[in-house]
Amino acid sequence: MAEAQRRRTFAIISHPDAGKTTLTEKFLLYGGALGTEAGSVKGKKGGRSATSDWMELEQQRGISITSTVLQFPYRDHIINLLDTPGHRDFSEDTYRVLAAADAAVMVLDAAKGIEPQTLKLFEVCRDREIPILTFINKWDRPSLMPLEILDDIEKQLSLTPTPLSWPVGSSEGFRGVLDQRTGDFVRFTRTARGATMAPEEIVEPERAIEEEGGLYEEAVDELGLLEAVGNEYDEETFLAGVTTPVFFGSALTNFGVRLLLDAVVDLTPPPTPKNDHEDEPRRLDAPFSGFVFKVQANMDKAHRDRTAFFRVCSGKFERGMVVTHENSGKPLATKYAHTAFGTDRETLDEAWPGDIVGLVNANDVRIGDTLWQDEHVRFPAIPSFAPQHFAIARTKDSSRFKQFRNGVSQLDEEGVVQVLRDRDIGDQAPILAAVGPMQFEVAVHRLENEFGAPVELSMTNYSVARLTNEESMAELRAMQGVDVLARSDGTLLALFESPYWLDRLIGEKPNLMLDKLVAGAI
Ligand code: G4P
Repeated sequence: MAEAQRRRTFAIISHPDAGKTTLTEKFLLYGGALGTEAGSVKGKKGGRSATSDWMELEQQRGISITSTVLQFPYRDHIINLLDTPGHRDFSEDTYRVLAAADAAVMVLDAAKGIEPQTLKLFEVCRDREIPILTFINKWDRPSLMPLEILDDIEKQLSLTPTPLSWPVGSSEGFRGVLDQRTGDFVRFTRTARGATMAPEEIVEPERAIEEEGGLYEEAVDELGLLEAVGNEYDEETFLAGVTTPVFFGSALTNFGVRLLLDAVVDLTPPPTPKNDHEDEPRRLDAPFSGFVFKVQANMDKAHRDRTAFFRVCSGKFERGMVVTHENSGKPLATKYAHTAFGTDRETLDEAWPGDIVGLVNANDVRIGDTLWQDEHVRFPAIPSFAPQHFAIARTKDSSRFKQFRNGVSQLDEEGVVQVLRDRDIGDQAPILAAVGPMQFEVAVHRLENEFGAPVELSMTNYSVARLTNEESMAELRAMQGVDVLARSDGTLLALFESPYWLDRLIGEKPNLMLDKLVAGAI
């Protein structure tokens, strides 16, 4: 219980370029995981040395597709930081990652406020009902007014912002923040390239007025105004995902990074018992259990293998222990357990609730599966999103059909795309289904580069999918602009070219099963 209590497991969500990579790196700096200088784990344009093929794709596109997990100590706590893809097309992946997180930090660019991708990713957070801290980044640059940003959060996300820090000055003149939790004015000093922690000084009000004059008084006034309208931090509504504590800062210069990390430790919840598929909570001190939220092959060229990531939900995990894989009923050895540090991996010997473990070559393990020891448990599956884009995949080179089939099934297991098959045609020309079209780019790139199977995709006109059954299948298939295909879990999906036609059909033929796919609301 004490080990669980020390854990904080959270994810960062943000629109591309808002500063997620920079903030992650600065968290590591403050956690002491980089020594004393930042700059060594810079992603994207920097020097990720062991990049896999599709990380090259990330580099070309300047976006983050992979999500990694980082663990580092901070104060007397252990922080597990889950990275999420920064693009809406990968919101299903984000959804799965959030299934393993207890909280999220939403990073906004101070000059832009809420951007479209933030909105989508935020909806995914809301679906999962996790508490969200907001970091308004890049305050060292010309920005919107603080109140404007708060207004944006309130209007666009229907989330009440409760500032826990307030900026004194802005852009070049960004001096520090009022720390709402202590009442202090914390003044920062820039360091060269932000490579080391920003020195902080607590300045008494009298000296602050003397040295910062109007900037300080303005900040105090603004904050007073907010308190007067009741935007004060409230634990209950924060934990319920109704309010969001807001922090101002600059990841580049490290201003406000420590305050944010302190808030993660002090405000976000430690792991709590996870409910099983019958809604019974699994006690944290029950024997080991975990659930798989991510599967990824070929993360690293040096290790062409498949890793299943699980979150520990109860008990202690020890490397080498034999656990039961609930979904196949088979025992599973855990000799090759590791923790990830960016793209590097380190062997991991033990883990506690809230921790993330990567298991190499656990080949039968799928997303949503449960692992346990001694005391049986099954956690609910992670629901799939409703796809909105559908493309037929064919191999360009028939002599590579085996590679094509293996590659497609691996991508299916990872949830890179959903794979739908016509029962009569089978694996020859499966339909790849995606929430966003960029998933197709990743699939094509990986099939060619990792599996040696160049493919040709032809887009279809289908735009909406519904769950159906055997009884409805024949009637649906006889219609124009409709097809019924099977997902690899056996579920039948009816695809429609026209949402209007679908609506009409639902009205006219109530005998047909045409259920909405539940998750994601996207
Ligand atoms: P992302 O992971 O969310 O996509 O964003 P990332 O951290 O890569 O940041 C995007 C750009 O914004 C980077 O600049 C980064 O240096 C800059 N940035 C991040 N935080 C701050 C901040 O607090 N203040 C300012 N002024 N800039 C910030 P770039 O030019 O694209 O890359 P680089 O060449 O500087 O690495």
